[in-house]
Amino acid sequence: MAAIQYTDRGTAVRVSPAGRALTEAVLAALDAPSILNTQPWRWRIDGDTAQLRADRSRQLATIDPDGRLLTLSCGAALHHVRVALAADGVAAEVAYLPDGDDPDLLATVHPAGAVERGAQAQRLRRAMSIRRTDRRPFADQDVPEAALDRLRAAAAARRRSAPGAPAGPGRRRRRRGPRGRRRARGPGVPGGARGLGP
Ligand SMILES: Cc1cc2nc3c(=O)[nH]c(=O)nc-3n(C[C@H](O)[C@H](O)[C@H](O)COP(=O)(O)O)c2cc1C
Repeated sequence: MAAIQYTDRGTAVRVSPAGRALTEAVLAALDAPSILNTQPWRWRIDGDTAQLRADRSRQLATIDPDGRLLTLSCGAALHHVRVALAADGVAAEVAYLPDGDDPDLLATVHPAGAVERGAQAQRLRRAMSIRRTDRRPFADQDVPEAALDRLRAAAAARRRSAPGAPAGPGRRRRRRGPRGRRRARGPGVPGGARGLGP
């Protein structure tokens, strides 16, 4: 099954600028990190609305029986869409779990007017294109309190905008720095991506 489904294939010329920005944002979100690179999301673009669905066929029964890692992965993809839209000057209206009868419909995203293309949004958008998972060992150092405070504040802000989102445990180790490898396009962790080296 394709990662993106368009309901209006062939009518692209009539798509609004916001709809086009949404499609581009969803395409950018295909590069989001996911548990063991399973990419367990399905996007459906219907006019000016994108639906984000969990793809249970990609859930890892052994290490992720309750689907938490799958949900986190989809959350990362949703965050990518929001960042890409913001960088494009488009505000996003996000509905979380909009259908109580359909728990695999995790969110819908709808462009909701213009926002300033701020420097922070541009910085995050660039980071989306170049980030990759750093698999080197953790350093044996505590994360500085100031950094933890920033993480807590960011998580609290996100929880306020996503009511009901569970709080996750924090990690107290700091990674040593980015690793210079490109990620693979398809699902599955590439052979060269193991945590070997310095
Ligand atoms: C919820 C979640 C859990 C992950 N857990 C691990 C992990 O335990 N070990 C690891 O090396 N990478 C982990 N990753 C990173 C993925 O393996 C990585 O995102 C994927 O292989 C794609 O590579 P990339 O991030 O470089 O694009 C995790 C990613 C997510 C979103």
